[in-house]
Amino acid sequence: MWAIKVMAAIAVLGATLLAPPATLADAHEDYVLNCQGCHGADGGGASDAVPSFRGSLGRFLRVPGGREYLVRVPGTSQSALDDARIASLLNWMLHAFSADDLPRDFTPYDEAEIARVRRPPLIDVTGVRRRLVDQIRALGACASSDYTSDTLARGAR
Ligand code: HEC
Repeated sequence: MWAIKVMAAIAVLGATLLAPPATLADAHEDYVLNCQGCHGADGGGASDAVPSFRGSLGRFLRVPGGREYLVRVPGTSQSALDDARIASLLNWMLHAFSADDLPRDFTPYDEAEIARVRRPPLIDVTGVRRRLVDQIRALGACASSDYTSDTLARGAR
């Protein structure tokens, strides 16, 4: 009897150790279940209330503090997802919605970085976002016409 229990325990342990890390498919699913309701299937946001990720998200990585902002913004930091899944999710979102805007030296988020940056919660979200958007505009990394859509408009008002 004990032998069966030991074998069962080994089987469970093996399955746990061999569980694959979060994949791109998992990240997409996490997006659909946790973020899409506000941010839209295509990352296009919702009118004035939720900013679009398209042509926008990757630009935050070009200015100081932007990389942390994407982690600390409430939608990300307050989600029920663990640090590893958030890292995969953000990497997936950046590629799915804003690949052309990523800096050349972009290094993907990993679990340790999310754990380090996620807390404490960001209090002045609007103010922080506004300053980042101003810095992105000041970079002149893109024609101002790039911003005529609601991509970064929310923080510019
Ligand atoms: C209830 C609606 C809502 C949900 C759900 C939501 N967000 Fe957001 N998200 C927002 C709003 C509104 C903003 C603009 C900043 C702010 O006011 O929080 C935002 C901003 C962001 C930003 C920064 C982009 C920018 O242009 O400022 C990221 C990154 C982000 N959300 C990630 C996520 C992730 C990841 C999820 C799912 C795990 C998620 N959000 C779920 C509403 C939402």
